[in-house]
Amino acid sequence: MDSVSSNSRRVMLKRFILGSVSSMVAPAWVGRVLAEVSEPMAGPAQIRLKLVDFPVLQAAGGSVQVEFSQISKPFTLNRVSAAEFVALDSRCTHAGCTVGKYVVADGRMRCPCHGSRYDIRGRVFRDAEGNSTEPAPRDIERFASSYDPVTQMVAITIPGLGFGIRSISVQPPGRMKLRFSASAFSKYEILYSETLNGTFTRVSFATTPTGAANQTSIQTTADGIVPLEVYVDASGPKGFYVVSLVLKEV
Ligand code: FES
Repeated sequence: MDSVSSNSRRVMLKRFILGSVSSMVAPAWVGRVLAEVSEPMAGPAQIRLKLVDFPVLQAAGGSVQVEFSQISKPFTLNRVSAAEFVALDSRCTHAGCTVGKYVVADGRMRCPCHGSRYDIRGRVFRDAEGNSTEPAPRDIERFASSYDPVTQMVAITIPGLGFGIRSISVQPPGRMKLRFSASAFSKYEILYSETLNGTFTRVSFATTPTGAANQTSIQTTADGIVPLEVYVDASGPKGFYVVSLVLKEV
């Protein structure tokens, strides 16, 4: 691989825009969020969800929970109105159980452990003086989110979610090293497409510079944010590699 093609590939990779791909896999929705390619990663990671993947979110009151790590609580996404979504940590502020989704008929989210109730925005039920009437003392933590009605996507910023390609380097012959931040107990895959608008497909990779590229996913087992390195064999003269975080609706 000569330096010209290496450089152009690096430029193209850097242009990749954060996006998401998903698929319906019964019984749970499984999606992948692609890392924005940037050096170095700036700020907390964003997860973008396509509304089309979640029919229940078509109507106000719709609520889904999505898991992105085996040790973190899923996040909850509630549709308050046509234009307003609220993304919440699902950790109960009483003793940390996972609060259930919003139920329209009941007008609340409920914690299964000791019954704390929260409204659709994650606010704990309170009396006229503003004191919590529930075992939970506080509102659920809310994540920053935004909704784009044109693309029908909701972007959610998850603090502490380590996700993003930190560096890309060409490892001759024809092998590229992707280095990225990963969150504990989360599963990652590498996708490739020849063009930005093309279909991204999963590719196998190696975890050592000279090892066989025969792995299709990698899961972190250490606590905290850890750097991971994988090695992909160049799939063509040009293209886009992205790291994807595997999500699961729970
Ligand atoms: Fe939720 Fe106790 S942990 S009510």
